[in-house]
Amino acid sequence: MEKVLVTGGAGFLGSHLCDRLIANGADVLCVDNFFTGTKSNIAHLLDKPYFELMRHDVTFPLYVEVDQIYNLACPASPIHYQFDPVQTTKTSVHGAINMLGLAKRTQATILQASTSEVYGDPEIHPQTEDYWGRVNPIGPRSCYDEGKRCAETLFFDYYRQHQLAIKVVRIFNTYGPRMHANDGRVVSNFIVQALRGEDITIYGDGQQTRSFCYVDDLIDGMYRMMQSGADVTGPVNIGNPVEVTMLELAERILRQTGSTSKLCTRPLPQDDPKQRQPDISMAKRTLGWQPKVSLEDGLNETIAYFRRVL
Ligand SMILES: NC(=O)c1ccc[n+]([C@@H]2O[C@H](COP(=O)([O-])OP(=O)(O)OC[C@H]3O[C@@H](n4cnc5c(N)ncnc54)[C@H](O)[C@@H]3O)[C@@H](O)[C@H]2O)c1
Repeated sequence: MEKVLVTGGAGFLGSHLCDRLIANGADVLCVDNFFTGTKSNIAHLLDKPYFELMRHDVTFPLYVEVDQIYNLACPASPIHYQFDPVQTTKTSVHGAINMLGLAKRTQATILQASTSEVYGDPEIHPQTEDYWGRVNPIGPRSCYDEGKRCAETLFFDYYRQHQLAIKVVRIFNTYGPRMHANDGRVVSNFIVQALRGEDITIYGDGQQTRSFCYVDDLIDGMYRMMQSGADVTGPVNIGNPVEVTMLELAERILRQTGSTSKLCTRPLPQDDPKQRQPDISMAKRTLGWQPKVSLEDGLNETIAYFRRVL
C-alpha cells in the first residue's frame, strides 16, 4: 500500500485529491496548518482507517515515512496570499525545501502544485511550458508568483543535483465544490453574489478572459502526472483551454442560478492578467489527459454546493 503525503490536504484541491487517493486505496497523510483549509473539507475522511490528519506548517521540517508527496500547501487566492506576503513566500520556498529534503531522505516521488501565475502577464497565447513568463518581481502578486517560480527552480535543482524523482504541474484556474465562499476568486464570487441577489462585480470592461478547469478533471491530471514514468518531470500545464470572458461567465452564472442580480463594474486590480489560457498539448501527449467536464456541468455542481453551504 502506497503511503502518500498531501500537504495542503485540507484545502480546496487537496481535499479532492485526498478523496481520490483514498478511493484508489492509498494510505494518506494529510498535512495542513488550516490557514485557508478547513477540517470540514476532509471531515468525511476522518473515520477512514487509511486517512490521517496532521496539523503542521510546511515552513518547518517534517519527518515521516512516505512513498509519494503531493506538495499543495500554499494559499492560492490573492486575498489570502496577500494577507501575509512574507509567509506566502516562506510557504512556497521553505515549504519546497522541507518537502524536497523529505523526498530525498525517503526516496519519495514528489509533485509540486505550481501555477499558471509563473507566466505572469504573458505575451504569448496560449501559454506553452517553454514560455519563461513575464512576472513583476516587486508587485503585490509577486510573493505568490515568485515564490512558486523559486519552488520550481528548487525542484529542478534537486532533480539535477540529487537525482530526485520530481513532477511539476502548472495548474490553471480551477473551480468546483469546496472553493472558499469569499476568497475573491471569480467563479465563487459570481456564484455567491448571484445566489445572494447582490450585484455581480466585473473588474474592468469584463473582456479579459480566463479558462476554467473543473476540479475532478484537474485532480485526474495531477494523479496521472504522479503515475507517469520517471522521465516525465514536467512542467506540464493542467487546465481547460476553453476561454470565456468575465462578462460571458457572469451572464452564464446568472442564467444557471436563475438570479436577478445586476452587473456592476469596478477598476481592474494592479497586475491583473488580460488573458490566460493553457496549451495542453504536452498533457495530452505525455499523460493522455484532457478535461472532460463542460463549463455548464461544472458550474451546476459548484452552484449546488454553494446553495448548500450559504
Ligand atoms: N485552485 C486553483 O485554481 C489553483 C491554480 C493554480 C495553482 N494552485 C495551487 O494548488 C494548491 C492548492 O490550491 P487550493 O486552490 O486548493 O488553495 P487552498 O487555499 O484551498 O489550499 C491550500 C492549502 O494549504 C494550506 N496551507 C497554506 N499554508 C500552509 C503552510 N505553511 N503549511 C501547511 N499548510 C498550509 C491551507 O490551509 C490550505 O488547506 C496551491 O499550492 C495553489 O498554489 C491552485
